[in-house]
Amino acid sequence: MRFFAYAGVVALGWLGAATGLGGDVPLASLDLKQMTAGWSVTKANAGINGTPLRIAGHTYNQGVGTHAASRLRVQVYGKAQKFTAQVGIDESAGKNGSAEFIVQGDGVVLWRSGLLKGGDPAKAVSVDLAGVKFLTLLVEDGGDGSSHDHADWADAVITMNDGVIAPVAVAPYEVVPVQTKSFALNFQVGDDGRLYQTQVGTPAKSATPPRPEEAYPQAGDGYIWEPALQVVHADGNTSTTLKYQGVMRASTGAQERVSIQLRDAAYPLDVILNFRLHAERDVIEQWVEIRNHENGEITLERMASAALLFAPQNLYLTHFSGDWAAEMQPTTERLTPGTKILDSKIGVRAHQFGNPSFVLSLDGPPLENSGRVLAGSLAWSGSFQCAFDHQGGQVRALCGVNPFASAYHLKPGEIFTTPTMIWAWSTNGLGNMSRHLHAWARENGLRDGHEPRAVLLNNWEATGFDFDFKRIVGLYDPAKAIGTELFLLDDGWFGNKYPRVDDRAGLGDWAPNRQRLPDGLAPLATEAIQRGMRFGIWIEPEMVNPKSELFEQHPDWVIRQPKRELELQRTQLTLDLTRPEVQAFEWDLIKNILSVPGITYAKWDCNRYLTQPGSPYLAANRQSHLWIDYMRALYALMEKTAKEFPKTELMLCSGGGGRVDYGALKYFHEFWPSDNTDPVVRVPMQWDYSYFFPPLAIASHVTHWGNRPLHFACTVAMSARFGMDLDLVKLSSEDRAICAGAIQAYKQIREVTQQGNLYRLERPHDAVRGALNFVSQDRARAVVFAFQLKDGVALPVKPQGLDPNRQYTVRELNRAPGRAAIPLEGKKRSGAELMREGVVPSCAKALTACVVELAP
Ligand code: DGJ
Repeated sequence: MRFFAYAGVVALGWLGAATGLGGDVPLASLDLKQMTAGWSVTKANAGINGTPLRIAGHTYNQGVGTHAASRLRVQVYGKAQKFTAQVGIDESAGKNGSAEFIVQGDGVVLWRSGLLKGGDPAKAVSVDLAGVKFLTLLVEDGGDGSSHDHADWADAVITMNDGVIAPVAVAPYEVVPVQTKSFALNFQVGDDGRLYQTQVGTPAKSATPPRPEEAYPQAGDGYIWEPALQVVHADGNTSTTLKYQGVMRASTGAQERVSIQLRDAAYPLDVILNFRLHAERDVIEQWVEIRNHENGEITLERMASAALLFAPQNLYLTHFSGDWAAEMQPTTERLTPGTKILDSKIGVRAHQFGNPSFVLSLDGPPLENSGRVLAGSLAWSGSFQCAFDHQGGQVRALCGVNPFASAYHLKPGEIFTTPTMIWAWSTNGLGNMSRHLHAWARENGLRDGHEPRAVLLNNWEATGFDFDFKRIVGLYDPAKAIGTELFLLDDGWFGNKYPRVDDRAGLGDWAPNRQRLPDGLAPLATEAIQRGMRFGIWIEPEMVNPKSELFEQHPDWVIRQPKRELELQRTQLTLDLTRPEVQAFEWDLIKNILSVPGITYAKWDCNRYLTQPGSPYLAANRQSHLWIDYMRALYALMEKTAKEFPKTELMLCSGGGGRVDYGALKYFHEFWPSDNTDPVVRVPMQWDYSYFFPPLAIASHVTHWGNRPLHFACTVAMSARFGMDLDLVKLSSEDRAICAGAIQAYKQIREVTQQGNLYRLERPHDAVRGALNFVSQDRARAVVFAFQLKDGVALPVKPQGLDPNRQYTVRELNRAPGRAAIPLEGKKRSGAELMREGVVPSCAKALTACVVELAP
């Protein structure tokens, strides 16, 4: 007697006709609940309607009775010898019914019965299963519908190699769930061995999905829509056919990594779909590895990081376009048939006209507190493409490097890793989505996301290029007096043969200007430190002015097209970072500057994009690598900087918000969202950035842009990462007092605004007012902001996220001179009451604002 353990159950009592060391397992002994049937339920040792198994006058004691369409998948682990059976239409169907029986091994058809009709004699099956891991038994309806298709797998037996491993019936389709707390991407393996994805928000299917639903679809072999992958193989074949190989899962702490392995059916090309799951945050990071094991070079024409599918009904896209000083302008639109493309073809500073972050909302236009929304953010600072391919029955979101002019060659053995796509899900609208993403970013997306950010004073808007040692040090005492913690010296401190006194010369010559700073940078840092402030410096390592010693010495180090007139932007050119000498030069300058004693902060700027994308360094057949190789070299430089200077804080800047993404941000602490610091513009702009980025990373400086009242400007800056860009020497004592009050208040609330949860309350776009609040993680403290953009009335602002049972004392901070106290000033109220009744702010006139603390 043999014992077969399967699916945790021990099957006893069947005396198998064992051959040698092998063991015969009757199909009927498996868990038949896993076998689908087009009518009724599959029966062990009986026909589908419960009568004995009979085909054309012959009775069978054992076997399985089912009904077309039927499917059973059995895991046999590569340890089975053969599958044998007698198949046919059960007599209970009379002369009716017709069906075809199919046996598959690992998705490949091994045997077909051809059409069998009611009354036809049984057909014998005997299929070799050597090496097969999954055996699939299918009954199809014969093409005439499934009426009366009573199908018998009579005398059906799987012969195993030995008596130790037993076959196990598994779910009819292999489903590969990639799942966080309330979000799931459901992948499923079809009969054809390909990987499919069910539309986000819908359950797995009980049949092989149609080809348009292939996950990560490939060009050239039947898929007719926008592909995720397009490869030219070493032999010139332009088609790819990826088959599922398996899945690997690994957990580290709160994160799980899932890697789905795919392999081309005819070429040694591996594609691995990788996911890092942050279950509690409902955040998934997704990227793809493409491994060339062919014996020649292959070319990637298209290689998306993600290609998720969505149901098209009610699907809306919110995306962000703009330009210098007008970044992050939102548009929400319903996706309609055709392909909507958000992209950039400008290489560095690639986000000047649009950010690679968007929101897909599945239940109509997105709302703050309800509806299913998915934020997507591509961690890539180079040319990107997010294509939303609406094919009628579905929408596919393809995101990744822009395939435009970017064919990438892979030598044998080389691996291409795509940038990471970050997805953040919420079933309760945008607010929850952002809170998830902010928490993820503080933990994984930024440097030192749990460290407080200092109050910063920058000289750019105050002095521009017009300064020397004395003028800068002259700003220190007033800066210290109002509570500044960090001073940042901007552009204009370097260049001797060609002094950097404006933006037309000196870029690339990183020696301090001897006239302005005779003893270099160190004394400036020392003076700041002596006053208890830190010191930071501006750099733009990737660029050069033609009027510079660097360009005189190395005209071939710039990105340019031979035989074309050099095109300048802001009178500058981009250095070709694919060239090793340029990589060494940029690293040296960064290292030298950041090693100056006392420098603990740097602003990394980038003030032009690529318009003539040619590399004098790369070979003729590698010119299309420029876009990607530039970015890889840049990230290597950023990574080295972060590693070698772990205590130096970094601001990511690109002539405003021309480079804002999580690809670069992981080496930085914050980013400069826009040169436009007009607080009227910043209220909506910071709102829009906050969909994706936590306020502690959104630099917000008080300046004179727009000539708005200083108290209003200060309050707007306090709602993000607070700083100033003012000539304090020229400021009136009243204005200095407002700034000092704002800094003091900011220091009191920054733990809550930088580490707490953000609730967007009143959308400011085209509105009279905007409002936000922050709540500390323990919900003991909160801060409410109201920004009055046009004249109105002081209606209560209703905070969210408070602890309803906790008592909060209400206090306005840094109340504007001459303004009356708010009605709740100094009073205690429960969280429930505050959320229900709100707080009446002290502002009602245009360009006034109010910040209220709710504390124990
Ligand atoms: C552009 C930045 O956005 C500004 O803040 C300033 O640093 C200038 N560059 C300096 O050239």
